[in-house]
Amino acid sequence: MIKLIKSTFYKETETKKKLINFISKAEQLSIGKECNKFEGAFAKWQGRKYCVMVNSGSSANLAIVQALLNLGRLKKGDFVGFSAITWSTNVMPLIQLGLNPVPIDVELDTLNVSSKKLIEKLNKYPVKMLFLTNLLGFCDDIDEIAKICKEKNIILIEDNCESLGTVYKGRKLGNFGLASTFSFYVGHHLSTVEGGAVCTDNSELETMLQMVRAHGWDRNLTEQKQLRIRLKHNVNSTFYSRYTFYDLGYNLRTTEINGFIGNTQLKYIDEIINKRKYNFFKMAVPIYARTDKYYPIKYDHIDFLSNFAVPIICKSKVIRDELVKKCKDKIEIRPIVGGDMVAQPFFQKYMPDLMKNFHNLNARLIHEQGLYFGNNPELTAKEMDEIIKIFTK
Ligand SMILES: Cc1ncc(COP(=O)(O)O)c(C=O)c1O
Repeated sequence: MIKLIKSTFYKETETKKKLINFISKAEQLSIGKECNKFEGAFAKWQGRKYCVMVNSGSSANLAIVQALLNLGRLKKGDFVGFSAITWSTNVMPLIQLGLNPVPIDVELDTLNVSSKKLIEKLNKYPVKMLFLTNLLGFCDDIDEIAKICKEKNIILIEDNCESLGTVYKGRKLGNFGLASTFSFYVGHHLSTVEGGAVCTDNSELETMLQMVRAHGWDRNLTEQKQLRIRLKHNVNSTFYSRYTFYDLGYNLRTTEINGFIGNTQLKYIDEIINKRKYNFFKMAVPIYARTDKYYPIKYDHIDFLSNFAVPIICKSKVIRDELVKKCKDKIEIRPIVGGDMVAQPFFQKYMPDLMKNFHNLNARLIHEQGLYFGNNPELTAKEMDEIIKIFTK
């Protein structure tokens, strides 16, 4: 069986040895120096000023939405656009925090929201924020999307949990909007077992994210920022300052263990994404050539494609069902990400009125006729040949 995920880490044995050594010597395992070091290094690699590390990509999504509410950039009841094909915890924070999620259909050939699809929805809904998912390493015309958002004063946030490293028109995905979220869960490009982050260039947002991450207090802020916030709220005594809670928060903190793993894995990130890119082209080119069976997927507009799973959109349900049978006990496959969010029970439960208005034809087709198999750096040539054989015969 060729599994979706083959290992927890890249260079697993070496990484585990380093981890054992680190844990046995570490004086502190709660959030500290290693996490700070990772935040600096990751922000630099991504090309952003700030990175706030949290315990998952889902937490990153929750944190950014809460931070924007705390800062008054969003208000309860606001309409927020999101990609109809995404992961549940991209949409759930919007519902949990009293916003109105508006699904935007994706293009069939890029699996992503385009400026055209966005404009269609903006004509109907006064969207205040767009929570755009960059799906499976791909994107559509995100530069145009960013331009529209700027013109219309819409906050653009990228859920980049699946596209770490993809470069479009010379810019890394995750750098097109006010902030972007990342997942470091096993199987994603970079693994810290569980983990996530929010990146931004906005210092005020970074500060709020640090408070949202930890109880709404100021402990993880720089001394200067602590002074400022304490002065503003008239908190003079150190006895109380450590237990003053300034705004709404959670506990989304990560640990030094995850920080250490992140620092270890980050050294390999370019090697990891290059291997995955090579694997993608090796498998996708012959498979996608079967245009009699599969819809074409467009990626020639992307400068560097950082992919971690290969999507296949079948021309009929019959073809998809046949593939499911053929792959049984041979290749682990699954639906495309979380599928069409509107078709999910949670969305139907909480959004019954809005539901009636949303018909995302491409998202539904991808939900019903799509599947993906894993693309990881440990795939062998033999395994890739086997995958190609099953999907091209
Ligand atoms: C687009 C997207 N957003 C968010 C997440 C959540 O990340 P995590 O599993 O780290 O919570 C995922 C997970 O796969 C995802 O694919």
